[in-house]
Amino acid sequence: MSRAPHAVVSTSLRPRAALLPHPTDIWNALPAPMLLLAPDGRVALANVACETFLNSSQSQLIERGWESLFPEDSPLRAVVDEARLARHDIAAYDMLIEFTGGRRVRADVLLGILPDAEGWLALSFQPRAVTSLVDRQIGHQGAARSAVGVAAMLAHEIKNPLSGIRGAAQLLSSSVDEDGQELTTLIVSEVDRVADLIDRMEGFTDTRPRTLAPENIHAVLSHVRKLAEAGFGAGIAFRERYDPSLPLVMGDHDALIQAFLNLVKNAVEASPPQGKITLTTAFRQGFRVRQPGSGRSVSLPLEVCVIDEGEGAPVHIADHLFEPFVSARRGGTGLGLAQVAKVVGDHGGVIEYDRRDGKTTFRILLPVASA
Ligand SMILES: Nc1ncnc2c1ncn2[C@@H]1O[C@H](COP(=O)(O)OP(=O)(O)OP(=O)(O)O)[C@@H](O)[C@H]1O
Ligand SMILES: [Mg+2]
Repeated sequence: MSRAPHAVVSTSLRPRAALLPHPTDIWNALPAPMLLLAPDGRVALANVACETFLNSSQSQLIERGWESLFPEDSPLRAVVDEARLARHDIAAYDMLIEFTGGRRVRADVLLGILPDAEGWLALSFQPRAVTSLVDRQIGHQGAARSAVGVAAMLAHEIKNPLSGIRGAAQLLSSSVDEDGQELTTLIVSEVDRVADLIDRMEGFTDTRPRTLAPENIHAVLSHVRKLAEAGFGAGIAFRERYDPSLPLVMGDHDALIQAFLNLVKNAVEASPPQGKITLTTAFRQGFRVRQPGSGRSVSLPLEVCVIDEGEGAPVHIADHLFEPFVSARRGGTGLGLAQVAKVVGDHGGVIEYDRRDGKTTFRILLPVASA
C-alpha cells in the first residue's frame, strides 16, 4: 500500500538534523527536474531529474551554461529574464520548449525567487504527461456539457410523440392482415428502441447535483463483477486486486454501479471469449487537480482501474472516447463512456484511457469521503 503513515511526532521525538538525509540526496531524489541559477545566470546546481530532462550532466551545465541548450529566441530564456527583472515568481503553463538540436518538449515551467539570496532563481519543469490528463478531463466535461443541452431538448421533443406512434401501431395491428402485423410489430419494437435510447440520454442530461454518501468502492465493484459474471461477462475470468485499507469515497451508489457496469461491459466486449479482466484499487498520494473556476486544488488519491487484454480502442476514436455518440462497435450507441465521464465528473474525479503493453486500462481517480 502506498499511503503515507499518518504520524504525530512530539517535539522531543522529532528526528535530529544529523539523522536527516544529506540535502544533496534530497535534491537528487526530487522527481521534478530542477535547476538553481546564480545571479550571473550560470547553473549552480541541477538535480538528477534535470540532467535527464535536459540531456546534459550537471558538470556540463555548470561549465557551458544552460542557455546554450536552447535557441536565441527561446521563450524559456525570456521567462527567466522576466522573473529576474520583475523579481517575482512566475508559472508558465504548457510551454513548448525547443532544444538547440530540434528536440521539443511540452512542460509547465515554474520559476521561484530565493527570498534571502538576491538574484538567485530556482527553476523547475513539470513535463505535461500528468497535467494534460487534467486538461483532457476538463475537455471531456466540456464536451459532455455542450451535448447536454441538445440531448435534453431532443429527449423532451421526441418522447411524447413516440408513445402516440406506439399506441397507434398497436391499434392498427388488430385491423390488418399478417404482413401488416409484421410491420406494426416492427414499428413497436423500433419505437421501444428509440425510447430506450432517450431514457439513457435523459440520465446523461440530468444536471441536478447528486446526493452523495460515503461508499465502499469495493462493494460497488464486487456487485458489478457479480452482475457481469451472471450475464454479459459469462466465461470471462475476472480478477480483483484491491487495496483492503482503501478509505470510503463520497459517492452516488447507483450511479457508480452504472458507470463501472459500462466500463466492465466495454471490457467484456473488447475481450476474446475466455479473456481476462482485472479490477484494481489503490491509494495514490500526490495527485491533485485544480478545480476549474475556483482555482482550488483537490486531492484525488483513490484509484480504480478496469483492465482488459483486448485490442484497445481504434486509433481514430481514441482521443474522443468520452464524447457522446462516439462508437466503433456495431450496434453501439456511444453513450456508455460519456455517461461514465459524467458520473466521474459529478464525483469530482477524473478518468483516463491508457493503452500499453497489450493492456487497455480505464483509470478513475476519486476524492476520499472525508475531503
Ligand atoms: N475496453 C475497451 N477496449 C477497446 N475499445 C473500447 C473499450 N471501451 C470502449 N471502447 C471503444 O469506445 C467506444 C465507445 O464506448 P461507449 O461505451 O461509449 O459506447 P459503445 O460501447 O459503443 O455503446 P454503448 O452506448 O452501448 O455503451 C466503443 O464503441 C469502443 O470502440
Ligand atoms: Mg459501451
